[in-house]
Amino acid sequence: MPDQPRPRVLSGIQPTADSFHFGNYLGALRQWVDLQDEFEPFFFIADLHALTVEHDPKKLAERTRVAAAQLIAAGIDPERSAIFVQSHLPEHAELAWVLNSLTGFGEARRMTQFKDKSAKGGEGAASVALFSYPILQAADILLYRPQYVPVGEDQRQHLELTRDLAQRFNHRYKKTFRLPEPYILKETAKIVDLQDPTRKMSKSASSPAGIVDLLDDPKVTAKKIRSAVTDSDTVVAFDEEKKPGVSNLLTIYSTLTDRTVEDLVAAYDGKGYGDFKGDLADVVVEFVTPFRDRTHELLADGDELDAVLRRGAEKARAVASRTLADVYDRVGFLKA
Ligand code: TRP
Repeated sequence: MPDQPRPRVLSGIQPTADSFHFGNYLGALRQWVDLQDEFEPFFFIADLHALTVEHDPKKLAERTRVAAAQLIAAGIDPERSAIFVQSHLPEHAELAWVLNSLTGFGEARRMTQFKDKSAKGGEGAASVALFSYPILQAADILLYRPQYVPVGEDQRQHLELTRDLAQRFNHRYKKTFRLPEPYILKETAKIVDLQDPTRKMSKSASSPAGIVDLLDDPKVTAKKIRSAVTDSDTVVAFDEEKKPGVSNLLTIYSTLTDRTVEDLVAAYDGKGYGDFKGDLADVVVEFVTPFRDRTHELLADGDELDAVLRRGAEKARAVASRTLADVYDRVGFLKA
């Protein structure tokens, strides 16, 4: 029996930091790894998106490689998944241009991520690329006609725009795009800042002490866990409202060990935060150490990594170039 074709999934991550952090890993990457069993995945490094805010051109290429190495170290298997770099496929920018022509100015302005990201410097200082970010994201997705797009809750609005644009194109020209469904990643994997548990762990918002970078020295990581903000109580219990710090640590603990939160709460009954954090620090170190080693190994052997990205781009191109050819035909471009 030939293999049944598996439904496609696609997602991307930006290479905007020197390392992924726990929020990226537990909130997204870990689920990507599991999706490989059931789906045909396309995962890419969104380097075009990295240009939407100020970036350091000296670091971008290396950050892109480090991001790719981390995907593999996290368990994305290049045999089962296409791992590629967005800028290696001109189709992304090309389709984005066509989709720009279908997007209303007001429609783009309603995107809350644009509002958030441009709030600091004011709308006038934001780039047109930042404004158009979700349209490029729509192009990323629609090129591959995926069934699902695994993203965090914060990307839901961009997915809705993607579906609207797909529908508009299909209606105005001819049915070309599949309407992708969001695959919103489990709420349990919402990781918050270790020092300010009211906010999400994020590169832009967290202080160094509040964020756990996967490639940090494990000793530094252990220390960050042990000094995470909790509360003045002493009971290890899960309550995101009243005990956001402890709840966050329980989430991290549970996802890394596959022990349930209830099980952990029972295990730490009568023990203080010190024991709890000390044990969690050990668990985290046990996880990050091999991850970090594998990432460095991949980075040291540049050939293997380059080959993975080349093969990923080939797999991606086989799909993306066909979609773009259909689009160019349908909008009425003269054939080259
Ligand atoms: N905007 C996404 C994020 O910040 C990254 C991204 C870019 C993406 N293109 C995508 C995610 C396409 C899913 C599909 O998380």
